[in-house]
Amino acid sequence: MCGIVGYLGKRRVSEVLTGGLTTLEYRGYDSAGVALSDGNTLQIVKKVGRVKELEEKLSSMELIDATYGIAHTRWATNGGVMDENAHPHNVGRVTLVHNGIIENANALKESLSKEYDFQSETDTEVIAALIDKELKAKDPVIAIRDAVKQLTGSFALVIMIDGESNKLYATRKDSPFIIGIGKDEVVMASDIPAILDYTNKYMLLDTYEVAELTAHDVKIYAEDGAIVSKEVKETTYLKEEAGKNGYPHYMLKEMMEEPIVVENLINYYQDKLEKLDLSKYEEIHIVACGSAMYAGMVGKSLLEKYAHIPTTVEVASEYRYQTVLYTRKTLVILISQSGETADTIAAMNKVKEEGIDTLAIVNAEYSTIANEADNVLFIKAGPEIAVATTKAYILQTLVLTMLARETAHNKGLLTDDEYNSLIEDYKEIPRQIKSVLEKRDLYKNLAKEIYKHEDVFFIGRGIDYSMSMEGSLKIKEISYIHSETFQAGELKHGTISLIDEGTPVIAIITDELTKDKTYANVLEVVARGAKVIIATTEKLDNYEELKIVVSTTSEFVQPLLVVPGLQLLAYEIAVLRGCDIDKPKNLAKSVTVE
Ligand code: F6R
Repeated sequence: MCGIVGYLGKRRVSEVLTGGLTTLEYRGYDSAGVALSDGNTLQIVKKVGRVKELEEKLSSMELIDATYGIAHTRWATNGGVMDENAHPHNVGRVTLVHNGIIENANALKESLSKEYDFQSETDTEVIAALIDKELKAKDPVIAIRDAVKQLTGSFALVIMIDGESNKLYATRKDSPFIIGIGKDEVVMASDIPAILDYTNKYMLLDTYEVAELTAHDVKIYAEDGAIVSKEVKETTYLKEEAGKNGYPHYMLKEMMEEPIVVENLINYYQDKLEKLDLSKYEEIHIVACGSAMYAGMVGKSLLEKYAHIPTTVEVASEYRYQTVLYTRKTLVILISQSGETADTIAAMNKVKEEGIDTLAIVNAEYSTIANEADNVLFIKAGPEIAVATTKAYILQTLVLTMLARETAHNKGLLTDDEYNSLIEDYKEIPRQIKSVLEKRDLYKNLAKEIYKHEDVFFIGRGIDYSMSMEGSLKIKEISYIHSETFQAGELKHGTISLIDEGTPVIAIITDELTKDKTYANVLEVVARGAKVIIATTEKLDNYEELKIVVSTTSEFVQPLLVVPGLQLLAYEIAVLRGCDIDKPKNLAKSVTVE
């Protein structure tokens, strides 16, 4: 969480910095700030609120003619939302911005408090003091390295030092950071889209490496102080991909991309099917957070039912502290859109220490998880900017279905005929998703039935339950309606007492095996006054209730048709409630704190 930017070059520095922050606002948006320098004077401006408010403040001020600067948009961790806690922080000769969280900040603050008078409640100010202290006896690169080695936690830092004019320094551990290399300019940021206006060439920093940057030169120092030669990579992200393309919200735009990104991904793996074979494993643990974990739940149903591999789905923040006994040949699958989720990274590190194989399903190709897992399957969603994931969830689920399919086939659990017919089903999915997404009016009408309520319930069994977890999260996340999911059979063991006249209940019924049982539960809630919406398939549909009906396909890919409808329903509800859809309150896209 939090977005950081740094710039050295000839452009108007404040504009490059705030432009970068606007692109990174999905990472946090409770306050923002910049530090500008012309080599002699330092000017720091901060403002609680969105980047737009910082821009307004900057445009009303007389700014120095800066040649470099740093900037930050914040998602508060240590210290409340107020100007004093906004970044950049300045202590002594050091001014810096920080993405991450320092776990031993209190202890460090206490030991530094005789020498430094702290002005904020943040962990970041402590880092600035530590570096300032080290600078009294050391050169900048060594001082920075020795300071950050004392930190426990995660950080990406861009640092200005008094007396080191027209230079920036940067370092990182467990937080993302990209150095964009332009012609006579360098732009640094937490994520690729923020550099695309200036360059598509970039470098990545490894843990504890320190970069010393001018507009014309980038020097990277390894932990032992030696200069490292770094590969300059080229990103294929296009700037237009990161824009809204005429849609009112990124979330809508990203949902509408689902047919094409699904088609592309199916084609991408067509000549890499061997990468999808998990038949050598006796057990799988899927580890992830939030929607990525709910995608994992769909994967579990399919891997167990079709590939006959016992599979568990674990919340990453719990898994890392659990005593896990690996008694069989185990694979741990880590799922993460950003590849930077701190809990998932921590779980990955634990698994790797145990010597267990890891496979990551990731979107961000330059991310920590993509770099550090033993094997990676990319989902190739392109940038996903809306805080609520949509297309990435669909692609994560798609990859999991393909893993189940290929493994089942290789193990002889699917005949060639069954396999070939499945491949035909996959070819139809993009068109079928498109027809789900085209029914905007249906979702708008259903949303009208729900948006004034404060409680919604989802029910489903088996794979239908997994889909409803995601549908429910989408509603609560972007429309702030309390929404809960229950295994349909569980409702009468307590929760049914919450059903009142008019309470919306959304039932997912796509599974032939359990359809009648779930429908019996629907009737139970109808008898108690609930207003029910059923999401089902053409084949099973003989329901009288309000409904979302999608094409019938194989069980492998049915979730890919149902969940887009649930996403669009959540979207239309949030529109009616006037919510800030792309930036829901209290959230951030990339959860880089534990
Ligand atoms: C919900 C959502 C989150 C993420 C979760 C994991 O819409 O986006 O629940 O799925 O924070 O994020 P990644 O996939 O980046 O690890």
